[in-house]
Amino acid sequence: MSQPTRHGGAVRATLAGIVDRFTPRGPGVRLDPTVRLDGQTALVTGASRGLGLAIAQGLAHRGARLILPCRSGHAEAEAAVLAVAPEAQVELLDVDLASPASVEALCDTLRDRGERLDLLVCNAGVVPARARTTPAGLDLMVHVNFLANVQLVRRLLDDGTLPRDRQPPARIVLVGSEAHRSAPPIDPDRWDRAEDYGTAAVIDHYGRSKLLLHAWVCELARRLDGPDGPQVAVHHLCPGAVASSIAREAPGWVKPLLDLLMRTFFASPAKASLPALYLAAEPTLDGRTGVYLHLDRARDVAATASDPEVGATLWDAAGARVLAWRSGP
Ligand SMILES: NC(=O)c1ccc[n+]([C@@H]2O[C@H](COP(=O)([O-])OP(=O)(O)OC[C@H]3O[C@@H](n4cnc5c(N)ncnc54)[C@H](OP(=O)(O)O)[C@@H]3O)[C@@H](O)[C@H]2O)c1
Repeated sequence: MSQPTRHGGAVRATLAGIVDRFTPRGPGVRLDPTVRLDGQTALVTGASRGLGLAIAQGLAHRGARLILPCRSGHAEAEAAVLAVAPEAQVELLDVDLASPASVEALCDTLRDRGERLDLLVCNAGVVPARARTTPAGLDLMVHVNFLANVQLVRRLLDDGTLPRDRQPPARIVLVGSEAHRSAPPIDPDRWDRAEDYGTAAVIDHYGRSKLLLHAWVCELARRLDGPDGPQVAVHHLCPGAVASSIAREAPGWVKPLLDLLMRTFFASPAKASLPALYLAAEPTLDGRTGVYLHLDRARDVAATASDPEVGATLWDAAGARVLAWRSGP
């Protein structure tokens, strides 16, 4: 088989992202420029670059105090935020989301200081060149794109770092992907089994990690909802095609083409961050939960992601994993 055919998943995903971006749809949602976040504390993951940095910049510009746990690029991220919001309060912390111990240490620090977050943005994500396994024995994408978010959110909720009694409710915004639609259904017995796959199958496995995320997010929104509204509001989105570093591990032969396509057709991180900022701060969303945006439009996630039976099974299975990390070595 020729290489372009073998890499059909990546090519299809890239073209679909471009088509989505340029399909005319009329005006979508947009956060009014006057909305302010003064006095609010937001934690954003994956803010060292790309979409996460743009989200952090947008939040800081509106007055939020930022906590940015990063794996690398701390000084550059801080400088980039201060460049757009010189008065911003920004704190860079360390985290490697592929390390359960590192996520636990981050949560310990936040708990010990008595932090109370108004907003959590789970944005970090990864697309490796081929299958990679984390020290915990998990597929890297399943670990970073999905399970690290489960670990972080559950710890922050259990510690009260993400309070359930804030009025209006605190918000959690998670960055997923439309790639979840083309993933095979979740197999409850195999979702956490690491598989060996090559570059050609990476996008399929990326979609799988995002389907796990969206299914879990739907369940999280259901569990945090109540008769008087959500204790904590939970929203998710696909930002569409973003000109970021997400494809930095793409094979050498395809990288120049991808870089050209990204520069020409993909949205800048600043533009792509607008739907995330809307979910983070739009006042008319108070009292609502479980909103999913694709670009700037509300949409339903794939039926399998919103299936309560799938969600409940995944909640228990993923919960067992992350709770074991809490007490484990
Ligand atoms: N770009 C797109 O077209 C697109 C489309 C749909 C969805 N998304 C989603 O958008 C989100 C942001 O991606 P992006 O496009 O901005 O990609 P990016 O430029 O590669 O940024 C990814 C961010 O995640 C961080 N990260 C990755 N692995 C980590 C780990 N183990 N521990 C801590 N941080 C880690 C990276 O940190 P380092 O700087 O240390 O690597 C970086 O800050 C992801 O969830 C992605 O799946 C992107």
